[in-house]
Amino acid sequence: MKVVLYMATSADGLVAKKDGDSDWVSDVDAAVFDKKIKELGCIVVGRTTFDQYYGDLYPVEGVTNIVLTTDDARKSEKESVVFVTSARDALEIAKKKGHQEILLIGGGTVNGMFLKEGLVDEMILSVHPKVLGEGIRLFEGGEVDVDLELKSVKQLGEDLVQLRYKVKKASRLS
Ligand SMILES: NC(=O)c1ccc[n+]([C@@H]2O[C@H](COP(=O)([O-])OP(=O)(O)OC[C@H]3O[C@@H](n4cnc5c(N)ncnc54)[C@H](OP(=O)(O)O)[C@@H]3O)[C@@H](O)[C@H]2O)c1
Repeated sequence: MKVVLYMATSADGLVAKKDGDSDWVSDVDAAVFDKKIKELGCIVVGRTTFDQYYGDLYPVEGVTNIVLTTDDARKSEKESVVFVTSARDALEIAKKKGHQEILLIGGGTVNGMFLKEGLVDEMILSVHPKVLGEGIRLFEGGEVDVDLELKSVKQLGEDLVQLRYKVKKASRLS
């Protein structure tokens, strides 16, 4: 199973303001993001992000939506939405549903959890021309030391750059 993380960040590595606002993400990036979701067909998202955009962005129709929560009693009313309580379970569910790749789409807590467990294989970061100073970091949950290999740099808009990295030594669940 390949895990691709896709996130919009500020130039100082934040994914949302302190109050959770990430409405500064550009339309150009949102369109690329949407295309990537459809291409991979499976997203993994934290419960906070899922609930924040419930009925607006999520659940995404036509793809598998896997939502991380510590609430093991939470049940979904939709077949396309599955709640899981660990990163490994997220990967197992994706595999059972026939996916070979998943798109990890935040927020910072869930990203940090996957990274610490060595489960992120690739990162696509859309770096927005913005400094937020304080807010939710790309990877929450403490110190990590992960080496990356730059695969590509794309200019998406006038001020927007998309970086694609391979994560070195990511462990895999076959
Ligand atoms: N810029 C971007 O591209 C982007 C993308 C996505 C999100 N965001 C922003 O990120 C913010 C949310 O980030 P966040 O870090 O606060 O939350 P998050 O990562 O979206 O979700 C955190 C939730 O995941 C569940 N969780 C955490 N650790 C877990 C574990 N070990 N096992 C099982 N479940 C676990 C918990 O849900 P329960 O509370 O239910 O237990 C926790 O409250 C939002 O404001 C959103 O706007 C930005």
